[in-house]
Amino acid sequence: MAAPTAMAVRPVLVAGAGTMGSGIAQVFATSGRPVLLSEPSETARQRGLAGIEKSLSRLVDKGTLGPTAKDETLRRIVFQESDFPIADCAIAVEAVPEKVDLKKSVLKELDRKLPPGAILATNTSSISITELAASTGRPDRFVGMHFMNPVPLMPLVEIVRGLETSEKTVAETVELARTLGKTPVVVQDRPGFISNRLLMPMINEAAFSLMEGVADRESIDTVMKLGMNHPMGPLALADLIGIDVCLDILEVLHKGFGDDKYRPCPLLRNLVAAGRLGRKSGRGFYDYA
Ligand code: CAA
Repeated sequence: MAAPTAMAVRPVLVAGAGTMGSGIAQVFATSGRPVLLSEPSETARQRGLAGIEKSLSRLVDKGTLGPTAKDETLRRIVFQESDFPIADCAIAVEAVPEKVDLKKSVLKELDRKLPPGAILATNTSSISITELAASTGRPDRFVGMHFMNPVPLMPLVEIVRGLETSEKTVAETVELARTLGKTPVVVQDRPGFISNRLLMPMINEAAFSLMEGVADRESIDTVMKLGMNHPMGPLALADLIGIDVCLDILEVLHKGFGDDKYRPCPLLRNLVAAGRLGRKSGRGFYDYA
């Protein structure tokens, strides 16, 4: 882990308390930073907090976190702006749903609230960093900070450099990710970056293989688990990520590259149309009831 700097202890604003936003808030708070988790929906706030509590408990049970760390981490997370020193923030990380217009409007608001010089980061999994940066007044201080799900467990953060992102911003974000105990990898702003450009075609081909009856779901997942040492098969992973999220990312790859090799499998569309979104809806390729 890098030596702590002033940035390492400054407060952090995280927008969106969904799976990713609450995971991101958790890792910042665990690293000792005060966190404002900004979320307009009371239901989403309650769900986010419950997810953080459950995740921290599992880490304590596994011995990854000390027994007092759970309460200390929870104490550092607040939901009300009035309880938080926004003017001291070093960075805000936007993690609201993957809708371009929603992200732009949240980013504009964060841009207005953040002190000058603070970094504005987005956790988008596929939307252009350059386009999102252009909706703010600080494109040089704008960067992609793409965490992996589940955030508290996955060591990677993709740091995505937009067209106008400055070297200083990239360097500071890399250092920041290291202070979270993560391994940063810097990539250019292209559709799907590296993670989803590689991962989504595999998930898509797994869905085509299932649709064509090449093998059943367990067999497809077993091939990748036992044959390639993946911790979970691609269909189970799609359920973890959210099948709607996978479909959205494939649409971005298909449109962004204009290449039919990224055309989404019709089975993914059918599952989304049926509301079978994966773990979060109780059913996807597998049943979680
Ligand atoms: N905090 C949060 N989630 C946790 C957790 C914690 N402390 N501990 C376990 N989990 C979660 C899972 O979601 C699952 O949930 P439930 O049991 O609540 O249903 C659970 O892990 C399984 O529990 P295990 O104790 O058996 O977990 P494990 O130690 O075997 O590891 C895993 C689970 C880390 C998820 C592992 O299976 C793995 O690495 N899978 C691959 C994950 C992956 O590829 N992630 C990247 C997705 S792509 C992405 O995020 C980018 C994008 O843009 C789409």
